[in-house]
Amino acid sequence: MKEMLKVAMPKGRIYKQASKLFRSAGLPVPEEIDESRRLIIPVPELNMEFIMAKPVDVPTYVEYGVADIGVVGKDVLMEENRNVYELLDLGIARCRMSVIGLPDWEPVLYPRVATKYPNVASQFFREKGQQVEVIKLNGSIELAPLIGLADRIVDMVETGQTLRENGLVEQEVLFPITSRLIANRVSYRMKNESIQALCDLLQDTIAQKA
Ligand code: PRP
Repeated sequence: MKEMLKVAMPKGRIYKQASKLFRSAGLPVPEEIDESRRLIIPVPELNMEFIMAKPVDVPTYVEYGVADIGVVGKDVLMEENRNVYELLDLGIARCRMSVIGLPDWEPVLYPRVATKYPNVASQFFREKGQQVEVIKLNGSIELAPLIGLADRIVDMVETGQTLRENGLVEQEVLFPITSRLIANRVSYRMKNESIQALCDLLQDTIAQKA
């Protein structure tokens, strides 16, 4: 890469798949990043610096330009609604956003919906003309209908294992989710050559895998 790129990477499950994709694109992301607790990892041979972020914060770092580009799930991108460019569907970390409930769920007048994604959930039900009370939770969302906090939940489904093990059913799919490559708007202009080169490289790799 010609110009140095700061890359915001999500720690955790997406990182494993993203680093694999980068490596198969010929970008030798050092192996030890996977295990390390270091948060800023320079990779001089790639002229890149990796910023290891909490996934939900990736669009924030990119919007403010402290990272030029980032890897983030479409779920977070929809929820955070940050002013960034979405450059590429990386086709990794495939799952979906769904409405979930107990099998014997029955419609009520003003249902409570628990979710980690209050903006996504509010917009979805608003567009359907349904009045709901959205309750924000930060994890283990499936608990909410089981213990009577909410009538339904809006959450991610990947393998469906969490639903099966807790006796819940998927009622409606909102949208499919994959990870995306995003860019800061100014960086995209100022470092266009490097960002475009990375984009092309990743796109070719994804196309070969398809
Ligand atoms: C996510 C999501 C579901 C689960 C879906 O939770 O919120 O609970 O994964 O995956 P599955 O369909 O393969 O079971 P995560 O592991 O991120 O933990 P959380 O409870 O903290 O949200």
